[in-house]
Amino acid sequence: MQTLLVTGGAGFIGSNLVRMLAQQGQYRVVILDALTYAGNLENLEGVITGSAVKFVHGSITDVECLANLFATESVDSVLHLAAESHVDRSIASAAPFVETNITGTLRLLEAARAAGVKRFVHVSTDEVYGTLGPEDPAFTEDTPLQPNSPYSASKAGSDMLVRAFVHTHGMDCVITRCSNNYGPYQFPEKLIPLMTLNALEGKPLPVYGDGKQVRDWLHVEDHCRGIMLALEHGRAGEVYNFGGYGERYNIDIVMAILERTGADTSLIRYVTDRPGHDRRYAINPHKSSSELGWHPLHSVEEGLAATIDWYRSNSAWCENVRSGAYMEYYAKHYGTSL
Ligand code: NAD
Ligand code: TYD
Repeated sequence: MQTLLVTGGAGFIGSNLVRMLAQQGQYRVVILDALTYAGNLENLEGVITGSAVKFVHGSITDVECLANLFATESVDSVLHLAAESHVDRSIASAAPFVETNITGTLRLLEAARAAGVKRFVHVSTDEVYGTLGPEDPAFTEDTPLQPNSPYSASKAGSDMLVRAFVHTHGMDCVITRCSNNYGPYQFPEKLIPLMTLNALEGKPLPVYGDGKQVRDWLHVEDHCRGIMLALEHGRAGEVYNFGGYGERYNIDIVMAILERTGADTSLIRYVTDRPGHDRRYAINPHKSSSELGWHPLHSVEEGLAATIDWYRSNSAWCENVRSGAYMEYYAKHYGTSL
């Protein structure tokens, strides 16, 4: 059985991916995660067995940790998701984004190359393409990179390093670029879980600017299937875009959340806009469809409703995230504090 290293496996997308892999049982999985504020082992409750799914606590910036891991785990391929991922945090402080997303990706590439891994899948974002006007065509894989936030600039930097390792060292890498994900286990600093939890708790919903920014929403399960298709069928050195045909105004998402939770529209607060706020993202996923046979299975309406219901019925997970109690999980289960 092949072994996959999943970096960032305790985060939102990583934990959904590991859960999917554990259910399918085709691969052995080793997770490497630094357990920053965004890493939550409760996302993987019942999934980490130690044999089929193993957890390693460590950072992709730690050269020694990476060398030990590759020396002991006979990793066949890498699915690289570990990152600092929130735009607002990158505006407040960009340095951790450069450290993890650029330096960390470089160190991971070097360690994976030294270990001779078969394939390295780098999970990136549509935000590297910059922003679109209302009538512009959706991003394709050939759209020039024009990142606007420190987050997207750091992701674009990591994409360029991956590209350079393909061209200079002949490494087998694939880059995926995905639009905004939503689904279970997303940290409530991002739009959909934040608005859902606030609505359920009767707290104000902060809408940036006029709320007419557009995001192209993709259910996390559709993204995870795309990552696996890129691993198994993508061509070396290629980029694959994943998007959900799910362009919506932010305010329409917020209104749908209010309707589903039964909360009142008076909770909406229009607040000062995010500096440099990208107006519109939209993905053209034609290449992924034609080459990988990938198609999103969830519609935004059905996926959003199911996601809101998931947060409503997983109140223990929500409470532990809101209170910070989730950070105690590692110490309780592994006997040492972080
Ligand atoms: P997340 O913030 O929920 O999770 C990130 C995970 O990485 C956490 O578990 C965190 O502990 C871990 N991590 C952070 N720094 C680390 C380090 N130095 N070493 C090891 N682990 C570290 O992020 P997410 O939303 O799950 O995103 C996963 C990947 O997908 C990221 O690369 C992100 O750029 C990309 N992406 C996300 C979206 C989205 O909508 N969420 C869309 C497109 C692409
Ligand atoms: P976010 O979930 O942070 O993802 P990204 O910035 O990577 O697209 O934000 C999605 C959209 O929602 C974005 O246009 C910013 C907006 N937004 C708000 O209006 N209010 C909020 O409190 C947050 C977190 C986001």
